[in-house]
Amino acid sequence: MSDRLFIFDTTLRDGEQVPGCQLNTVEKIQVAKALEALGVDVIEAGFPISSPGDFKSVVEISKAVTWPTICALTRAVQKDIDVAAEALKYAKRGRIHTGIGTSDPHIMYKFNSTREEIIERAIAATKYAKKFAEDVEFYCEDAGRTDNEYLARVVEAVIKAGATVVNIPDTTGYCLPDEYGAKIKYLMEHVDGIDKAILSTHCHNDLGMATANTVQGVLNGARQVEVTINGIGERAGNTSLEEIAMIFKSHKECNIATNINTTKIYGISRMVSSLMNMPVQPNKAIVGRNAFAHSSGIHQDGVLKNVTTYEIINPKDVGIDDNAIVLTARSGRAALKHRLHVLGIEMEQEKLDQVYEDFLKLADKKKEITDDDVLVLAGADRSQNHHIKMEYLQVTSGVGVRPVASLGLSIAGEKFEAASSGNGPVDAAIKALKQIIHRQMVLKEFTIQAISKGSDDVGKVHMQVEYDGHVYYGFGANTDIIAASVEAYIDAINKFVK
Ligand code: KIV
Ligand code: ZN
Repeated sequence: MSDRLFIFDTTLRDGEQVPGCQLNTVEKIQVAKALEALGVDVIEAGFPISSPGDFKSVVEISKAVTWPTICALTRAVQKDIDVAAEALKYAKRGRIHTGIGTSDPHIMYKFNSTREEIIERAIAATKYAKKFAEDVEFYCEDAGRTDNEYLARVVEAVIKAGATVVNIPDTTGYCLPDEYGAKIKYLMEHVDGIDKAILSTHCHNDLGMATANTVQGVLNGARQVEVTINGIGERAGNTSLEEIAMIFKSHKECNIATNINTTKIYGISRMVSSLMNMPVQPNKAIVGRNAFAHSSGIHQDGVLKNVTTYEIINPKDVGIDDNAIVLTARSGRAALKHRLHVLGIEMEQEKLDQVYEDFLKLADKKKEITDDDVLVLAGADRSQNHHIKMEYLQVTSGVGVRPVASLGLSIAGEKFEAASSGNGPVDAAIKALKQIIHRQMVLKEFTIQAISKGSDDVGKVHMQVEYDGHVYYGFGANTDIIAASVEAYIDAINKFVK
């Protein structure tokens, strides 16, 4: 009989903390519902005291989701806990996740405190959270660099104070897998009352060891893992959900079972990538574009003879179906609706009609519509309420001529036009844009990505624009890459010009 491993998804909290990945409440609900369908046990929905947006998201996700526990993050501060409890009031199952730094650098430099005082604060926060929720998780921030003997004292104290789950984060992603596994083993063997709580892993990927550390944590007794879709999260990210789910599904000898419906992995991976404008690296395990592509002759030959020669996972097990119906200009609404459903998106008839119209326009420009195209189309109305919109763009460029662009914008309904030359068509178009919008903006990063293949493909552009000491993120997608670039710039500007 396998041991049950609880999956705690923090895509909407640790993942969403990443600059440029912010979602609005409607998008967060969409992701939360997809996480529910995927079968996660806990959804960390936000850090309610951090912003009114986070507070509202925890409230709305609590209302929208039925089965998973909804968790809200706090510091070990009464006000944080009050606000989290308020945000969780509609949750069918709510959990408060409170905690404090326990490593010496955190105790000394962050809190200017002592080990004893930190234990007192940990106990007080746990007891205070227990007034509002039966289910209280305590995190020992930077547990990865916390001395094991002291960490065991903190864990024991918070379990006595009522913590039901204790989180052992490797906040800085520093631990080696053996070291992290030994830490969990030490706690399992030295903490009085450890049977009254579950130990949780929360590993960051700064040295590329998040998944390995999490696996070692589980093999040594942790029964909850904190993970994100596509491994997104602070800096180099968190442990990725899909990797953990497929590791324990593939390695039956570990006797670890999760509740994840792995056939939904691909859909939610694409959805999160698209909503957060965060491309998945092509060689990413499980969900990368090349994860199941065999390119060398020897490998192709082997796979054709018998797939088990080089394939340890059946792509269908993670929801990748090469035989899926290809969408073209002749596909009907039902085929589009089905593809959206596979990608985890349900929509009302009216919205479906709108997306279908855009789908037909795109299908006129390119032969086959990919999943990424469908996701871009489904999210297209995100820019509908923009203050600044592109009305038209005309560009002349080529070899031996200086590129020239003329651009029309509508700003709060008023029309503006400008023209400029530049050292390339994008430069010319951005210079024209800057003639209309007189702000001291600096383009910091500019990434162009063709979604799949073919010269008729949709190009995606990600941009970072610095203005007034802050960096704003913009996204554009178009079969015309110059138009996609201007769309991305305008998307970024819309974040600070209201
Ligand atoms: O990485 C970390 O330590 C965290 C805690 C707030 C749980 O994200
Ligand atoms: Zn974290």
